[in-house]
Amino acid sequence: MRIAMIGSGYVGLVSGACLADFGHEVVCIDKDPDKIAALNEGRMPIYEPGLDTLVAENVRQKRLAFSTDLKPAVAQAQAVFIAVGTPSRRGDGFADLSYVYAAAREIAEALTGYAVVVTKSTVPVGTGDEVERILREARPDLDVGVASNPEFLREGAAIGDFKRPDRIVIGAEDARAAAVMQEVYRPLYLNQAPILLTGRRTAELTKYAANAFLATKITFINEIADLCEQVGANVQEVARGIGLDNRIGAKFLHAGPGYGGSCFPKDTLALVKTAQDYGTPVRIVETVVAVNDQRKRAMARKVIAACGGSVRGKRVALLGLTFKPNTDDMRDAPSLSIIAGLQDAGARIVAYDPEGMEQARPLLQGVAYAEDAYACAEGADALVIVTEWNAFRALDLARLKALMAAPVLVDLRNVYAPAEVERHGLRHVGVGALAPG
Ligand code: UGA
Repeated sequence: MRIAMIGSGYVGLVSGACLADFGHEVVCIDKDPDKIAALNEGRMPIYEPGLDTLVAENVRQKRLAFSTDLKPAVAQAQAVFIAVGTPSRRGDGFADLSYVYAAAREIAEALTGYAVVVTKSTVPVGTGDEVERILREARPDLDVGVASNPEFLREGAAIGDFKRPDRIVIGAEDARAAAVMQEVYRPLYLNQAPILLTGRRTAELTKYAANAFLATKITFINEIADLCEQVGANVQEVARGIGLDNRIGAKFLHAGPGYGGSCFPKDTLALVKTAQDYGTPVRIVETVVAVNDQRKRAMARKVIAACGGSVRGKRVALLGLTFKPNTDDMRDAPSLSIIAGLQDAGARIVAYDPEGMEQARPLLQGVAYAEDAYACAEGADALVIVTEWNAFRALDLARLKALMAAPVLVDLRNVYAPAEVERHGLRHVGVGALAPG
């Protein structure tokens, strides 16, 4: 099948490369000539494990190409995916759909025969209707279908998620469009991934509901963690105790500094706004958004408390800046709020992240960067693990103790067993448990 992918950002690039790997002929389009030039030279604009080799192999097999020119790719395609950004609109939090609609207008001009235009970007309910209206208004003669096919990829694990999905959701309003979409995912039938065929609006809402539910689960366990600290309980054991109940499930019950990233903060907010607009507010999600926002800053207070109530003039070392491991993505990362809170309280910040420092630099002022975890810890009054990169999971604790000015480890991801840390002479301050001793 011939596929055009409009937008070669995170979602477009991963999806395009994986669809090519399924055997389709895919052209990934982007307006940014530097990005396309880099891709054509085999350089990836984002860090995602395994993406470079997947792209190289499919380019070599001539199944994957990159271009700034939308027209020829769309003219030949049977499926045209829209995978452009849908950021939060400044000021009101609604999803900004201007890029989606601009893409729809360009696609309308370029289509030649029957094709299905598919929204892959996360878009509010009704966007597919509007895309169809734009297409038909621009070209009343068009023979076209419009489908919704939300993605459920996690950054850092996106290729595996695409190839071995829990489910595929396809929203289409007619059998012809549905048949094309089933053909796109036919290679996955071998894996027996469930394919849910549904209406377009249902598919659009399913994506928001999934992300909002996951964000709720995280926020729930974060609040339980705070309660654990007050009553002398242990949140990791509580999480295990509830997670083994199949109705609840063990995943997304890791307490931490609050969720971040390019999806949960944006999508929860957009869902809240849409629901308010329809007069059916989703109050649980409204609360989740508010609780999570406050939590990030509260983590700075936790560090300050661990330092004896003041960080003025102190050196605080942060390990991990990205919103989660295996990505260089800094969008809505908890580290941003934590650093701001600590700097406001007079701390000097030094940080290290295996992949995120380049993206972090323009976002942070007055931060010194170290070249590894140990250099970061040198002379520090507290070492804070903000992101659970593998590189931070087996640190030489005795070496850290010797390097630091004050031996305090604030472990916001509960990477270390408190007793192990204390055995090496460092104080352990985790999330959702009383410090031992
Ligand atoms: C999320 C969803 O998991 C994907 O299914 C979805 O496709 C994607 O958003 C999207 O809408 O594009 P992602 O943002 O890459 O994926 O990352 P997650 O692994 O879901 O983590 C999100 C945040 O939650 C991170 O800050 C992470 O540290 C935090 N988190 C996650 C926790 O604090 N505790 C947990 O137990 C799990």
